[in-house]
Amino acid sequence: MMADKNEWGSNLSFIFAMIGSAVGLGNIWRYPYVLYSNGGGAFYIPYIVAILLMGIPFLILEYGVGYDFKSSFAKAVKKIDSKFEYLGWFLPVCVFVIMIYYAAILGWDGIYVILSFFKGWGADPSTFFTASLIQDSKNYMGLFHFLPIIAIAMLAGWIIVWCISHKDLEKGLGRVSKVLVPLLFIIMVLIVGFSLTLPGASIGLSELFNPNWALLFDFKIWMAAFGQIVFSLSLGMSIAFTYASYTKDDTDLITNTLSIVFANSLFENFAALGVFSILGYMSLQSGTPVAELVTQGTGLVFNAYPIVFNVLGQLGYVLGPMFFLTIYLAGLTSILSTIEPLSFSIQNKFGLSRSRTMTILIIIGAFLSMIYATSFGADLLGYVDTFINQIALLFGVVIECIIFAWIFHAEKLIDFLNSRSKTIKIGKWWIIIVKYILPIFILIVWFGGVIEVMATSSVDQTNFTIATAIIVLVATVILTKLPAKSPDWDKSDERV
Ligand code: PHE
Repeated sequence: MMADKNEWGSNLSFIFAMIGSAVGLGNIWRYPYVLYSNGGGAFYIPYIVAILLMGIPFLILEYGVGYDFKSSFAKAVKKIDSKFEYLGWFLPVCVFVIMIYYAAILGWDGIYVILSFFKGWGADPSTFFTASLIQDSKNYMGLFHFLPIIAIAMLAGWIIVWCISHKDLEKGLGRVSKVLVPLLFIIMVLIVGFSLTLPGASIGLSELFNPNWALLFDFKIWMAAFGQIVFSLSLGMSIAFTYASYTKDDTDLITNTLSIVFANSLFENFAALGVFSILGYMSLQSGTPVAELVTQGTGLVFNAYPIVFNVLGQLGYVLGPMFFLTIYLAGLTSILSTIEPLSFSIQNKFGLSRSRTMTILIIIGAFLSMIYATSFGADLLGYVDTFINQIALLFGVVIECIIFAWIFHAEKLIDFLNSRSKTIKIGKWWIIIVKYILPIFILIVWFGGVIEVMATSSVDQTNFTIATAIIVLVATVILTKLPAKSPDWDKSDERV
């Protein structure tokens, strides 16, 4: 039978697309630093607890409800209780905001893929990145200074995304994930394998894993572990929900969850081995202690790594392109997932085709993303990212726990999920976790994050955070209030 426009061709497409969404910048540039700065080896205790207590139970919940409804997130939430339609649009809109700034990072990285062939960042990569490439203005007046190179790189990314996303699900995202995700793992294995052989690798690794057990009593590392798992597995963002709603009837969601969580952790721990082996090598070459070299985010990828590739001589010409390409692929497979929840919700409400919805959203996204192709783009990106990660993502997990576990009554799913599962079975403990432990814990972490953002924000950051929140809320209200075009949007009894 021909797969429907919004249906995976096989379970493998579903698993690979989910792994593609999860494995992203969070695994490569965030996790190694989080592991290092939160107790090294000792971090594995909160990390494993976060996986068992939140990653696995929560993904099973999101998948289970998505599978049960077989419809978009907004439509399902509205069916659970029409009062909540706002929430049904709020999360997909937030994820679309992520898409828009992910496009900027992808654009920067795309430029580095090209630069890496001839080490075009020169002898001082840090100055090159801030002064020549992003031309950081540190001031919102920079919004009026347009950077065409970044705009072009971003547009190239949007075109690639359009080529994949406007097609039927299996022909586009399904097929591409089955090629890109294994490719990503293969390149990563090659990079890490090579990094481990570098002199000094063991210095970096012993710095990384050296356990600081005392930190186990510090709330901070528990927060870091839960934050990492939420971000890395893209939890609470209605992506897992949407992907599960595209599955066929015979899917074993519990076993799929285990595979996806395992692959995601494997990848990020692998990335940590690679990053710290290379930092160890750098430390040996330069005599600078590893502690002074470690950083994360753009500092790691666009400053520290180009320095490493400079030091590596001829080898840098091989390793450099491979490294930036890995980041590009990881980012691409993640960005592809960020359009699905909003696109499917719009298709369901307004009766538009997948192809047309994707085209409209990509044009809007590309247009809005141009704000990041300015001298204030990098700072703005930091502010929007903080808002989304520390405020919206965690909030999404709590919202979903309340709607799915409490109002929808997740208990209903247990028998069905267990009947398909070839591995573990879920029971009462699962309900206790998703109804009580998880929302309470996340709320605590959420308040901690909000207070931290409020305490550390500059005036600019506060203003732009408020502006982002207003834009997200206005878009949510518009999408909720616009009259539906699709005849079955308002039917509450039928799950289509
Ligand atoms: N999980 C992705 C990563 O680790 C980030 C992401 C978050 C992607 C939310 C999509 C949505 O980089």
